[in-house]
Amino acid sequence: MAIRNILTYIVVIAIASSVAYAADPTQLQDFCVAVNDPNAALFVNGQFCKNPMEATPEDFFRQGLDKPGFTGNGNRLGANVTLVSAAQVPGLNTLGISIARIDFAPYGLNPPHTHPRATEILTVLEGTLYVGFVTSNLQNGENKLFDKVLNKGDVFVFPQGLIHFQLNVGKTPAVAIAGLSSQNPGVVTIGNAVFGAEKPISVDVLSKAFQLDGNVIKRLQSMFWISP
Ligand SMILES: *[C@@H]1O[C@H](CO)[C@@H](O)[C@H](O)[C@H]1NC(C)=O
Repeated sequence: MAIRNILTYIVVIAIASSVAYAADPTQLQDFCVAVNDPNAALFVNGQFCKNPMEATPEDFFRQGLDKPGFTGNGNRLGANVTLVSAAQVPGLNTLGISIARIDFAPYGLNPPHTHPRATEILTVLEGTLYVGFVTSNLQNGENKLFDKVLNKGDVFVFPQGLIHFQLNVGKTPAVAIAGLSSQNPGVVTIGNAVFGAEKPISVDVLSKAFQLDGNVIKRLQSMFWISP
């Protein structure tokens, strides 16, 4: 009996610790400002980091999120994402967070996409957005849409990895700020990845997958897929 209790205890600990390891590891130092020059670098977890004695406030700083991204003529989606991640602010390296400004022309769309490495929390500063995300495949085979119309000051969360979108349903420009739980969230724009891949995914694969005639697939593949 005692042995069984101990085994149960070990199993519970094993499950609990495997859950704990599902999160990003905690950083081992205050920060690891990304640097390209190996002579100015230390190694942490196999990556170059700037020697902390040489880090400056500029490593943690970026200007310009007050400026709208261009959404005018020639921007076919009428949306523009200005991302500030570790690529723009080297001090974000290893910290697991980034931010984006998203501008929308009237009826502009940030098309269905996912962030493979980040949950997103979005707040509307101006305008009215229709937003939503779709769950992964549920046990009953469904994918459920969670959607909402957001006004100024409203906040909405897009869980990590799930397909989501934002559409400006107002007659005026809209702007939102998004926080992302990765220093390098990544983007998969669904249409671009599926129909715009370089080289193209085989028509046989896509016509079977989408239950569409090959000519429809070829037409979709011939389109110019863009992301904001
Ligand atoms: C987004 O805005 C930036 C800054 O105005 C501009 O350089 C870029 O071309 C815009 N992107 C699109 C797709 O219009």
